[in-house]
Amino acid sequence: MSEARFVVDPSAGSAPIDRRLFGSFVEHLGRGIYTGIHEPGHPAADDLGFRQDVLDLVRELGVTTVRYPGGNFVSSYRWEDGVGPVESRPRRLDPSWHSLEPNTIGLDEFARWCTRANVELMLAVNLGTRGIEEALDLLEYANVPGGSTLSDARVANGTPEPHAVRMWCLGNEMDGTWQTGHRSAEDYGVLAGRTARAMRQIDERLELVVCGSSFRAMPTFGAWERTVLEHTWDAIDHISCHAYYSDKSHDLPEFLASPVDMDRFIDEVAATIDHVAALKRSDKKIGISFDEWNVWDVERYEQQDKRHDIDDWPIAPRLLEDSYTVADAVVVGGLLMSLLRHADRVRAASLAQLVNVIAPIMTEPGGPAWRQTSFFPFAVTARLTGPDARAVPVMVDAPHYDTTAHGSVPLVDAVAVVDDETTTVFLVNRSPDTAIDVAAELRGRGTVVESVGIWDADPMARNTLDDRERVGLQQLPATLTDGMLTATLPPVCWVAIQTR
Ligand code: AHR
Repeated sequence: MSEARFVVDPSAGSAPIDRRLFGSFVEHLGRGIYTGIHEPGHPAADDLGFRQDVLDLVRELGVTTVRYPGGNFVSSYRWEDGVGPVESRPRRLDPSWHSLEPNTIGLDEFARWCTRANVELMLAVNLGTRGIEEALDLLEYANVPGGSTLSDARVANGTPEPHAVRMWCLGNEMDGTWQTGHRSAEDYGVLAGRTARAMRQIDERLELVVCGSSFRAMPTFGAWERTVLEHTWDAIDHISCHAYYSDKSHDLPEFLASPVDMDRFIDEVAATIDHVAALKRSDKKIGISFDEWNVWDVERYEQQDKRHDIDDWPIAPRLLEDSYTVADAVVVGGLLMSLLRHADRVRAASLAQLVNVIAPIMTEPGGPAWRQTSFFPFAVTARLTGPDARAVPVMVDAPHYDTTAHGSVPLVDAVAVVDDETTTVFLVNRSPDTAIDVAAELRGRGTVVESVGIWDADPMARNTLDDRERVGLQQLPATLTDGMLTATLPPVCWVAIQTR
């Protein structure tokens, strides 16, 4: 048995947590939309064909915002294909996922789904095959109350009130050669800056997100952010980060340390923002929108025999339907802890994605919906982080272990969130085989309110169609005596303990 100790001082400097940290992402990809959120004829479908069993799970997950419609998909998307009478909408090729897009769901339908899911809609514009004019058209359609051709078209299409979309992504992963219409940092920065300034001429309330790097290991990482920020500084509010993690080295302790990479990624992007602020002699606070993050076995996807036949364009094929283990869920919980720890810089984030596609929620056409293991740490973290919560980073005194990818890493990670009444600590034990005693000094709190987490004798256990409740939340014994919280963390576990 090892030991870890730390102190939580709620009066120590701490950052307010933006509720948009608990956002997610729905792309026209695979079965994310069709047979995911939308399946007319399903026994659980509502009057608009949305699956109510999925809506119930989305609400339980506690998602606050949803980014839409992509992802790679957006970079060749024509938004106007998805509005107006459904029967006359075109069927288009989606080159990014080699699929046929029927356009049954578009902006107006998806906004209605967001209302039913009680989430804020966040939109991305196409800066791959399109540009300023189409972004302005979409903004006019979405946000202008009426009196112009496109805003009146929205009213005529059955949405009298504007969608009032606040957050807009200026393209998607424009640094990646896989992106339809990808660009150099210089080209993208100029286009994104011009687009942002033009969009603000229509609606000055917007919060605009410029594309950062697709992942930290991109050869252009760092230089890309600097160049793009130099071109767009005056006109945008946030820069994006994207990161996906997997056990690519087949080294569980190293995989469990993935949040260390996310910590460093955020620190480096924050440093780049500060560098450009200095160059600009500016005190403007540009935030980070971590608008794609998750565990995703990208290598497995890339090795798959993908469809590229010119006569084969399936609608809603099964793509990226990763099945998550307990170990994956522990990493997801740790990644959320990294986002909370950086709440002073990260203003929004999106778990990628929401349903069926690398998702916490799975569905079967005509069949049930169920929670993947990754559902649990997200739902608990979102629920226990109240609207007035502040993040308190903590220094954990714990044994370390060596990893190839991340260097020396503590066996236990912890972060705390506090509000006037509660202190909640989130903890991870990264040891594959050793339980760890934790002792945390929590100033000003006397009772454990809740102590739950995810672990299993088999860290590879998962929930499947045939065994949908194999893995769930467990209660972890925890005591708080004279301000000292104690608990024993099982191997490979993520835990949340709320005290009052
Ligand atoms: O989320 C899956 C894909 O990952 C997105 O379409 C893209 O933006 C990223 O590379």
